[in-house]
Amino acid sequence: MPFRPRYTGLIDKYRDRLPVHDDTRVISLGEGNTPLIRLNNIPRETGKAVDIYVKYEGLNPTGSFKDRGMTMAVTKAVEEGSRAVICASTGNTSASAAAYAARAGITAFVLIPEGKIALGKLAQAMIHGAVVLQIRGNFDAGMQLVKEVAEHAPVTIVNSINPYRLQGQKTAAFEIIEELGRAPDYHCLPVGNAGNITAHWIGYCEYSSASGDHVTEACSFCQGHCMYAGGAIVGNRPKMIGYQAAGAAPFMRGAMVDNPETVATAIRIGHPQSWDYAWKVKQESGGWFDECSDEEILAAQKLLSGKEGIFCEPASATSLAGALRDIKSGRIPEGSSIVCTLTGHGLKDPDTAIKQCTAQPMLTVDAELEPVRAAIVGALS
Ligand code: F0G
Repeated sequence: MPFRPRYTGLIDKYRDRLPVHDDTRVISLGEGNTPLIRLNNIPRETGKAVDIYVKYEGLNPTGSFKDRGMTMAVTKAVEEGSRAVICASTGNTSASAAAYAARAGITAFVLIPEGKIALGKLAQAMIHGAVVLQIRGNFDAGMQLVKEVAEHAPVTIVNSINPYRLQGQKTAAFEIIEELGRAPDYHCLPVGNAGNITAHWIGYCEYSSASGDHVTEACSFCQGHCMYAGGAIVGNRPKMIGYQAAGAAPFMRGAMVDNPETVATAIRIGHPQSWDYAWKVKQESGGWFDECSDEEILAAQKLLSGKEGIFCEPASATSLAGALRDIKSGRIPEGSSIVCTLTGHGLKDPDTAIKQCTAQPMLTVDAELEPVRAAIVGALS
C-alpha cells in the first residue's frame, strides 16, 4: 500500500499560509480536514436544481469549528510565553479553549452565561479542567468582562477578537476550494459574533488572490496576518450569506440587541465583536444577512438528521434553514452551488434534540420477543 503521511492538523497542512515559524511548537489535536458532504435528499424536496453541500465542522476534535481557530490561538499564546488563556463563551469556544489548553499544559478560564449553555459543552469545559465561571449575565456581558480583566491579569484572550483565531478558521475556505476545484457560488453560515463569516471571506480572498507570496502590508481584515492584502482576485469567490436567529439578529436590526434570546444558544449574541468586518464581507461579496425563527432552525435540524443522517446542533442548522428559504424563493437561483457550514455537532445539545422528538415517543416494552416483534410490525404497517 502506498505510504500516505499522517494528517497532523491544519497548521502543518497550511503552514505556508499561516503566521507560524519553522520552530513554532504547534498545539494541535488534528483539527480541520472535515467532510464536505453533498446532500442527496433535501435538494430534491426543494423542487429546484441546486447543489447543496454541508461542511460538517462538528467533526472537529471538540465537535465544532472553534478548533480551527483555537489551534492557532493557543499555539501563538504558548509561543509568546502565556501561561493562561481566557474566553467568554456560549459553549463551544469554552470547550475548545479548555481542550487545547489541556493539550498545551496551560490554564483555561472560561466565562459562560449561567443556565444558557448546552450540556455537552459544559461537560467538555469541566472534564478538560478549565476554571469555569458561570456569570449571571449573557455572552455579551461575559465578553466585556473578559476584555477588562485581560488588561489587569496575565491571560491571553482566545475569543475571535484574537486575530490568530480568524487565521486558523480561514482554512475551512481553503479546504472547500481544494475539494470542489473552485469556490461555491454561495456560502451560508450561522452568525453570532461574525468571526467565522469574516474568517471564511479572508480564506476565499487569499486563496483566489493572484499573489501567493507573503505580503507585509495589512489587509483590512486581519491586521497583517494573512496573505491576501487586496491582491488581484483571479479565482471566483462566493456570495457570503449570514443567517441569524430572529431573537438575536443585530445585523437585521442594524443595531445591537440588548436581550438576545433563541433556542440556538450558541448564537445567542446581541453585540457581535466582528460587527464592522461582517458588514464589509456582505458588501465585498455581494451577499446578505437574514434571520430565521427558532421553529425554522429546529425544523432544518430535524430535516438534516432525518433525511440525510447528519446531526448538527441547532445554531448550525440556521445556515441550512436560511438557505432552503432563499432557494425556494429564488433569491439563490437554480443552477447554484451552495455550501452551508454546520458549525457544531448535534451531540453537544442532546436536550434540545430529544425535546424535538415528542411526535415519535419512545416505546417501552417488556424484554420479551412478542412485544418487541409486535412493536416492529406495528411501526412498519
Ligand atoms: N455556530 C456555533 C455552533 C457556534 O458555537 C458559534 C459561536 C457560531 C455558530 C457563530 O460563530 O460567532 O463566529 O459568528 N459560538 C461562540 C462560542 C460565540 O462562544 O462558542 P461566530
